[in-house]
Amino acid sequence: MNLQQLDRFAKEIIRQAGQRIRDAFSYDLKVETKSDANDLVTNIDRETELFFIEKIKAYDASHKILGEEGMGEKVESLDGVVWILDPIDGTMNFVKQHRHFMITIGIFVDGVGKLGYIFDVMREDLFCATAGEGAWYNDTPLRKLQSVKLEEAVIGINATWVTPNRRVNHEKLIELVRTVRGTRSYGAAAMEIAFVVSGKLDAYLSMRLSPWDVAGGIIIAQEVGAIASNLTGQPVNLLGQDTFIIANPSIHSQILEQYVELK
Ligand code: IPD
Ligand code: CA
Ligand code: CA
Ligand code: CA
Repeated sequence: MNLQQLDRFAKEIIRQAGQRIRDAFSYDLKVETKSDANDLVTNIDRETELFFIEKIKAYDASHKILGEEGMGEKVESLDGVVWILDPIDGTMNFVKQHRHFMITIGIFVDGVGKLGYIFDVMREDLFCATAGEGAWYNDTPLRKLQSVKLEEAVIGINATWVTPNRRVNHEKLIELVRTVRGTRSYGAAAMEIAFVVSGKLDAYLSMRLSPWDVAGGIIIAQEVGAIASNLTGQPVNLLGQDTFIIANPSIHSQILEQYVELK
């Protein structure tokens, strides 16, 4: 396995896919819904996933691909080389705002995260990492995160989790929101993760994400010392939905222990 070559190839197809999205969406965007009226998907989400599958299979047919739109094969284990990818993370932003959406990919070899990417398609900004070698924001190395006090932290959280819901004690999350310096909600998990690994947010948490939302980000996290886990502190499930937190190491366990009570 030549990781450097694989990294060059992944970056090349991510940039190509970004170009295709930017070229296509102003004249050819068909929006549909999936599980409910607010769960959007477009022809471009699907076409972008297919683009990746064709390119990756032509590169090496033994690589497996787990993508949100389910256009690859069914992936039931992380044996071998597995690409976990979201062709467009932040589809609602894509449809509504025409910005703030990401392509994100994690490449795993026998279950070990090796290469991670989060690409802001409209800004053409790439966050990436190679396991053991570091992480970058475009050509600039990302530094290890400096510690932060919870009272001075800015955290990413979707407002729904602070209203009564079936998954978590929202009263405790209200306390968290009152304790920290500020909250943000960007509508694209990968973007919020990119902000945590680059120190623009100090934590991001969600009660429900899928492997493709977080796979690339988890690999980048390791390189800057951010801690990514599910909300019970265990490794995130990369083959099914799970809860999620990524945080500066100085506040990860404090948030879990004092403010997160799953139902
Ligand atoms: C969604 C976004 C959103 C998060 C949702 C994800 P999609 O991904 O990341 O921020 O709150 O849970 O499903 O569907 O736009 O790829
Ligand atoms: Ca989706
Ligand atoms: Ca997503
Ligand atoms: Ca998506």
